[in-house]
Amino acid sequence: MTQDEQKQAVARAALQYVVDDAIIGVGTGSTANFFIDELAGIRDRIQGAVASSDATAARLRSHGIKVVDLNDVTSLPVYIDGADEITPQGAMIKGGGAALTREKIVTSAADKFVCIADGSKLVQTLGRFPLPVEVIPMAHAIVSRKLAALGGEPTLRLKDGQPLVTDNGCYILDVAGLQIGNPAQFEATVNNIVGVVTVGLFAQRCADVALLGSPDGVKTLV
Ligand code: 5RP
Repeated sequence: MTQDEQKQAVARAALQYVVDDAIIGVGTGSTANFFIDELAGIRDRIQGAVASSDATAARLRSHGIKVVDLNDVTSLPVYIDGADEITPQGAMIKGGGAALTREKIVTSAADKFVCIADGSKLVQTLGRFPLPVEVIPMAHAIVSRKLAALGGEPTLRLKDGQPLVTDNGCYILDVAGLQIGNPAQFEATVNNIVGVVTVGLFAQRCADVALLGSPDGVKTLV
């Protein structure tokens, strides 16, 4: 299977975790987009969806799926999203699509996180993929220096030559050169830097289920 075929296969497999008559949390990125396209086929079985980005909200609406404000939701049985890296224990790096803050917020509201990813995302140690950190714009230089002191090589993410601005009006630092041996502890350390909005480590709250693509089909991890 190609990478895209693996993404499509895990997206389809994730439908089994959709709870009838419930609101479902939906992530951001190319794998999440495959999932949204699959979800469209069973849209009459759900009440609606909470989106983790403006892009996801637009795609959900384009399929006729009702987008619900998280503030109006009291129960979210499941959140389904991709990852940039995932360990066999379910710790993840996320944020390649710049949606990490809303992804983490929706994750925190959900009873179950189902990660869907092609097999290339499975790693033993997080950090080969540069770690995204969302920051308040006025603090990006000082946060960069603090991340460098922790051993990373931060770069301000650009779009068309200008700092990329997230859905929340913030910037992203991509931190290369890390080997994250204790993801939950490093998540806490980075969270503690003043000016950081969100770090794209999902380790204090890992995936509950991971559906990973492979040449032989979908494998369930965690
Ligand atoms: C977006 C994310 C995505 O889940 C992550 O970047 C994976 O994306 P893709 O499914 O396109 O490989 O965290 O912020």
